[in-house]
Amino acid sequence: MADNKPAILSVFGKEIELPVLTPTAGPDCLDIRKLYGQGDVFTYDPGFTSTASCESTITFIDGDKGELWYRGYPIEQLADNSNYLEVCYLLLYGELPNESQLKDFVARVTNHTMVHEQMHNFFRGFRRDAHPMATMVGVVGAMSAFYHDSTDIGDPWQREVASIRLIAKLPTIAAMAYKYSIGQPFVYPNNELDYASNFLNMCFSVPAAKYTVDPALAKAMDRIFTLHADHEQNASTSTVRLAGSSGANPFACIAAGIACLWGPAHGGANQAALEMLQEIGTVDQIPEYIRRAKDKDDPFRLMGFGHRVYKNFDPRAKVMKESADEVLDLLGIENNETLKVAKELEKIALEDEYFVERKLYPNVDFYSGIILSAMGFPTSMFTPIFALSRTVGWISQWKEMLSDPQNKIGRPRQLYVGADKRDYVPVANR
Ligand code: CMC
Repeated sequence: MADNKPAILSVFGKEIELPVLTPTAGPDCLDIRKLYGQGDVFTYDPGFTSTASCESTITFIDGDKGELWYRGYPIEQLADNSNYLEVCYLLLYGELPNESQLKDFVARVTNHTMVHEQMHNFFRGFRRDAHPMATMVGVVGAMSAFYHDSTDIGDPWQREVASIRLIAKLPTIAAMAYKYSIGQPFVYPNNELDYASNFLNMCFSVPAAKYTVDPALAKAMDRIFTLHADHEQNASTSTVRLAGSSGANPFACIAAGIACLWGPAHGGANQAALEMLQEIGTVDQIPEYIRRAKDKDDPFRLMGFGHRVYKNFDPRAKVMKESADEVLDLLGIENNETLKVAKELEKIALEDEYFVERKLYPNVDFYSGIILSAMGFPTSMFTPIFALSRTVGWISQWKEMLSDPQNKIGRPRQLYVGADKRDYVPVANR
């Protein structure tokens, strides 16, 4: 970090020096750790719009330029030239693997794709109509009961085994959640297949018929995994870090991340975006939905638009849009009504003053749903696919946090605006 002059903050007539930390990229940070001790004041930042919660070497986003890097590599280069498991290695260990490191890593992940057989019974306790995300929150949380031998976070070996287990088993669990919800038998992983093909096979094959994974669709699936692999300190990642900061086991932490991701403002937006397009239905209905999105008395928002950090464009959306065109072309889906609505909505919103002024652009979720739906996934599977892709990011961030000597339990303070101290009144006198 560069040797900066400290910033001076004047609080109630007292000057406090705040060290200024300079990152590799992005804005400088005022180090306020000693502020309370020296000035007897807290900072107030709901939604963390101006707060860096940790130091990290994993992912960088430049919201103004629309850039996303994993360990310094631009997402576009990784999406075009790499593959998901190589990206997993990069996120987990910091560097791209050489050939033998990659081979070894792929073998380790592949060896862990099956889940404990007893987990099949555990799944059967859920209602068939449960949302696959609900099932996943429960099953991933329960992994600590099935894999107790990798829950000691003080043991680096156990941390490593838990990480590999999570990356390897999440596709199996997501596919099982899907199969269970549609009443089909679970399909065991096939370790002859690559990561993405194996996931497609577990979702779409049935014992009664032959199913061959289309390599072009597997490539598109792998790209979706890569584009979602990590995204810096977003809500679910911060949830994983906060849960992990107390020393909770990795399976519990990832289950917490999945729960947070489910919300429609976050990972749940891909399901919400496609359902919104279906609800709009026809191009002539778009103006009414645009009107509603602008109406401050109407809670409706254009799902798949806007981002807390990207204020120019979402680089993932750019790649995803290309992928969507390729997949639709491959599947011969030319212009169905949902696609027409999506294209027209995108055009109108990009030109509309309200959206332009607020820098609201289509985000990754706007296009991913179109691809996944074309591949045959129901909307309820969109967020589970996001969750399985993001698992490696959550784990990388969790591991980084645990090895950070500055790590301490996350404990925000508050601006208390409740009742002042008062005396208890017996019920008969109230
Ligand atoms: N439709 C209509 N208006 C919007 C939208 C939208 N999708 N998003 C933001 N606005 C307006 C908002 O009403 C506000 O207007 P004003 O300044 O007049 O009050 C302004 O834009 C700023 O919005 P904000 O809520 O302060 O922005 P935020 O940074 O807190 O929220 C967001 C970011 C992603 C939660 C929000 O844009 C949103 O709800 N988008 C729809 C959900 C979505 O697509 N989420 C996926 C995010 S990308 C995947 C992921 O990382 O999880």
